[in-house]
Order: sequence, then C-alpha cells, then structure tokens
Amino acid sequence: CQISLSLGPSFQTVDVYSVTVGCTVTSRFAHTIVTSKALNKANTSQEIFFEMELPKTAFITNFSMEIDGQVYVGKMKEKEKAKKEYEKAVSSGQTAGLVKASGRKMEKFSVSVNIAAKSSVTFILTYEELLQRKLGQYEILNRVTPKQRVQDFQIVADIYEPQGFAFVEATATFLTNELLYLVEKTLCFWFIFYYLDLIKCCISHQIVNGYFVHFFAPPDLPRVPKNVVFLIDRSGSMSGRKIQQTRDALEAILKDLHEEDHFAFILFDSSIVTWKDSLTKATEENVSKAIAYVRELRDRGATNINDAVLRAVRMLVEDRENDKLPERSVDMIILLTDGMPNNGESNLQTIQENVHSAVGGKMTMFCLGFGNDVDYSFLDVLCRQNKGLARRIFEGSDATLQLQGFYDEVSSPLLLDVDLRYPDNAVDHLTKNHYSQLFNGSEIVVSGQLINGDPDNFLVEVFAKGPEMDYIVQGKASVVNLEVMYPEQEYIFGDFSERLWAYLTIQQLLEDRFDHLNCKALEMSLQYSFVTPVTSMVVIKPDTEDGPSSPLIADKLTEGRCRKGQNIISFLRRLTRPLSVENQATGPPAHHLYFAS
Ligand SMILES: *[C@@H]1O[C@H](CO)[C@@H](O)[C@H](O)[C@H]1NC(C)=O
Ligand SMILES: *[C@@H]1O[C@H](CO)[C@@H](O)[C@H](O)[C@H]1NC(C)=O
Ligand SMILES: *[C@@H]1O[C@H](CO)[C@@H](O)[C@H](O)[C@H]1NC(C)=O
Ligand SMILES: *[C@@H]1O[C@H](CO)[C@@H](O)[C@H](O)[C@H]1NC(C)=O
Repeated sequence: CQISLSLGPSFQTVDVYSVTVGCTVTSRFAHTIVTSKALNKANTSQEIFFEMELPKTAFITNFSMEIDGQVYVGKMKEKEKAKKEYEKAVSSGQTAGLVKASGRKMEKFSVSVNIAAKSSVTFILTYEELLQRKLGQYEILNRVTPKQRVQDFQIVADIYEPQGFAFVEATATFLTNELLYLVEKTLCFWFIFYYLDLIKCCISHQIVNGYFVHFFAPPDLPRVPKNVVFLIDRSGSMSGRKIQQTRDALEAILKDLHEEDHFAFILFDSSIVTWKDSLTKATEENVSKAIAYVRELRDRGATNINDAVLRAVRMLVEDRENDKLPERSVDMIILLTDGMPNNGESNLQTIQENVHSAVGGKMTMFCLGFGNDVDYSFLDVLCRQNKGLARRIFEGSDATLQLQGFYDEVSSPLLLDVDLRYPDNAVDHLTKNHYSQLFNGSEIVVSGQLINGDPDNFLVEVFAKGPEMDYIVQGKASVVNLEVMYPEQEYIFGDFSERLWAYLTIQQLLEDRFDHLNCKALEMSLQYSFVTPVTSMVVIKPDTEDGPSSPLIADKLTEGRCRKGQNIISFLRRLTRPLSVENQATGPPAHHLYFAS
C-alpha cells in the first residue's frame, strides 16, 4: 500500500522530505525499517523530532541518525552496564528514555535532535517481530506521528508466504485535527491483516542456511471438549462497571459453550461461593440457568485468591475421579481478578507454590488481570507455571469485548499434548517443541538448527491427542531456495530463519523466570542486536553549542515484570516524591511492600 500525504502550512521552518515505512515479512517474520528525512530551513538551530509507535512484541534492532554526513549509530549494551555507565546522566534527569508505553499493543519510540541552521537529518529505525496467528489471522500494525509537515509519506509492505494467501486486507487511517490546514499533529495508523491458505497442508517448513522453522496449524480438526471453571473475583473493588462488564462477558461466553463442554462458577471475595459443587454439562437448559445466576452477580468483601484457586482445582480433580468428565477433554481454570490477594494467604510466592503443587500439571490456568491495580507479574507467573498465560484487561468501555476476545482464543482446543519430534541427532538448539494444547486459529512454531544432515530427507513428526484418537502426522522438509524462487525480490533477507530462531529462543528464555541470570538471553540479544528486557541501545547525540549532549537509551519495556528490588525502588521513589491529590488517590497500594521482604 502506498500513501502520500501533505499537510498544512504550519512548521514552515522544518521540511520533512519523506517518511518511509518499509516492512518485509518472510514466513511470519517481519522486518520493518522506518526512515525519516528532514531539513532545518531556519536561520537558527532547532530541535527536529522523530516519533514512531511499534508493537510491544517487536524487538528494536537498530537506530541511526545521519546529520550532515556524520552517522550516529545506536550501540547494543547489557542493560545493567548501560545503566551504570550512564548513571550520572540518568540521575540528573538528562537522559531521556527513548521508549515509552503507548496504549495496549504499542510502544512509542521518540527522539529529538538539535539541528544546525540549513542542515538536514535522517533517522532510521529498524525492528523485528514474529507475527502470531490469532483466530486464524496475522496482523501487522504500526503508527507514525510526524510532528512536522511531511512532503512524501510512504508505506510499502512486501509479504512473502510460501503457502499462499487466503485473504489480505490493508488499512491506513489518518487522525487529524478537524481543521486540516492547521494540522500540527497527524497520526497515521495502519495495519495489514492476512490469512494463509492452510487447506493444503498443516506443517510448513523453511530451511535457510541450516536454520529451519516449522509452522504447525492443522485445518479442519474437531474440537476437544473442555471443562472450564470460571473463578470470578467479586471483591468490593470490582463494584460498578467492572462487575457489570464481567456479567455481560460471562453471559456471552456461556451462550458460546458447546454441549459436550462442562463448566462451573466459583465466586470469591473473603469467602468462596460455588454455584454448584461440581461441574455442569453445558446443555441448553443448564446454560440458561447459569445465565440467570450470572445476572445476579454482585460485588462484596476482600480478595482470597489462594483458597479460591485451590477450590477450583479440587472441583476439577474430584469430578475427574468420579468420572463425571469426558476422558479426552481439557481442564481449564479461568481466573478473573482486579486486585491483590488481601485475605487468607497473601504471600504471593506461597500462593504460587500452593497452586502449582495442587494443579500438578493436570490443568491449564488462564489469568485475566482487570484494571490498573492488579499485580500483573504475580498473575503472569501463576499462570505460566500452570501451562497457561495471563492477559491484561484494560478498564474502559470495551472491557466486555476484551474478555470475550480472550475467551474466543482459548475456547476451541483442537489438540492436547502436542509434540514436534525430530530424528535423533538431526537437530540442535531446538526452541520449545512441546505444547499442552493447540487452539483453533493459533499456530505452533518450532525452530532450530539442522546438524549437517541431509536437508532433503529431514523428517518431522507431530504427536498429539485429539478428542477421540491420537493424532500423528509426518512432514518432510525440503530446502526452499528462496533466491531461485524469487530471484528479483531483494526483500527476502537471507538470514531470516536464523533471526527468527534467535527471536523465539530469546523470548522463551526470558519467559523462564526460574533462570534469573538469563546469561544466554543476554549473550544472544547482544549477538543478534535485539533490544530485549536484558539489553539497552545507547545512542550518543552530537554535541551542541551549549556543550556535550547526554546519551539516549532505548530499553525494552516489561509489563509488570519487575524483579525483586526494582519494585521497592520505584515504590520508594514515589514515596519521596511529593504527592499531589490525584497521586494520593491512585498512589501505590501498600501491598507493594511485599517485595521488600
Ligand atoms: C533568515 O535571515 C535572513 C537574512 O538575515 C532574513 O531575511 C530571513 O527573514 C531569515 N529567515 C528566517 C526564516 O528567519
Ligand atoms: C545499523 O544501521 C547503520 C546505519 O544505517 C548500519 O551502518 C549498521 O550496519 C546497522 N547495524 C546493524 C547491526 O544492522
Ligand atoms: C475453527 O475456526 C474456523 C474459523 O476461524 C471455523 O470455521 C471452524 O469451525 C473452527 N473449528 C472449530 C472446531 O471450532
Ligand atoms: C444439565 O442438563 C442435563 C439435561 O438438560 C441434565 O441431565 C443434568 O443433570 C444437568 N445438570 C448437570 C449438573 O449436569
């Protein structure tokens, strides 16, 4: 898609010749380069801005500025080292972080540089990400916010998917002031959705330079029945809109259950109430009774997460023991909470240990953290330790849709215990190759290195459990010679499979919280030049007439994933800062003190 844009007569003194977004996707691995060229037309020096929003799931890999022929390139460093090295500048508040959170899915990268009269600057930002299949589709998304008038604006996306497309949609939107001729800020928000043609095959391969990637997404499989316990926080903090939105979402979710599914409700505050003592088959009659029950849901009391989760686990275990549930079915707990455990057991680590040992690897736990007061890192660990994941539900008018959207992603398990197996001694440095379940519309990606075997006879086998039978499928890979297939497409960068492998490996290493040092993740982030939670990119700006500039640092933001110690530091910082009236209202809740112990 190509878009040209010219803005009104403001900002006559800076000319942004061009903003170009070049995005190339090779087998779901997206590589994006954003280039902006600007000229300071004024007689005096002035700041020129570059601002860009990128997806949270992306890693920045490079940033450079070219000013009057001189190139300033960002250097990748270990985060802790960068912090120490630039501590002086940081503590005096001179160093502006380049990356800030922006909305639900994006991070904002912004930089400004002082440019001499009649001089020009070129900013180049590069980032990479693996596009995730969700509800059958892949999404590429970004947002550009030029602060000065732009003469030429272009978005060029090249997508190479060997399987072929079923559907592609590209959309770009400009959000501007009402008075176009006074435009000072223009936001171009664009996204591309695409669906692949997965009818023909379910395992696809890419082998380039000895690195392989397998994508596994089987079409047309029947659903595995699920037994889901909804664990609903109805503490006082849920009152008002949140509990209303929860009711609405539950009603929609109930209507979506299939007859072979089973479900239960456990409501908790300081006490625990179950709708029924065991799970209920999702027949039409039972579902309509459940809906009537959900409509009566009201808030009260404090939050006892520990006992509530243990109750849910016990219910599933007992029903299994009593043969009330189909043998081949998935046991799930969906916990919805907006707060912190403040009743019953409230030591977070103890709760995690209790739950982990009670669940014993037998069920999958999903955690939905509702609103801003939730300790997301606690929920994240709690769920990951039990084969699931956590999701944030943002407060707002669309919270009901977010709840439903999450449920849609996990509502149709197709396979259980999915294993991608390779011949002995054929592969090395494999990424995670076992998944507890595969949901409809998602995809399993496994990557690794081929040990000098014959790539033409490279075999992969998928073993899994289906609703009635075991599922086994074999795939034979052959080397795709990209250059031969697409000799004229320069955008297919040769090392994409290696970089995809590195991206996936680093992500999985970082998710493994038991590995506190993460030495391997650090080593790989530096080697492949990725800004990850363990690295920083340092950009040294040119000196100005007023003296030397302080360095700029780009960090990867982490969502509520503070390590011990960091939380208490930010807590103390907030304490020592004078609180305004608003700050007091939303000030740090006392439970953050837990991290001090
Ligand atoms: C630049 O300087 C010239 C001569 O000094 C002056 O005529 C002109 O108005 C100035 N332009 C701007 C944009 O300040
Ligand atoms: C980063 O960008 C600069 C300037 O465009 C380039 O010279 C350099 O090779 C890039 N570094 C990496 C690691 O790609
Ligand atoms: C999986 O999703 C597709 C559409 O995304 C739908 O057509 C199909 O019926 C779903 N299969 C199951 C078993 O839910
Ligand atoms: C659910 O509904 C079916 C038939 O509508 C009924 O036989 C069953 O006992 C109900 N209750 C439970 C707990 O499954």
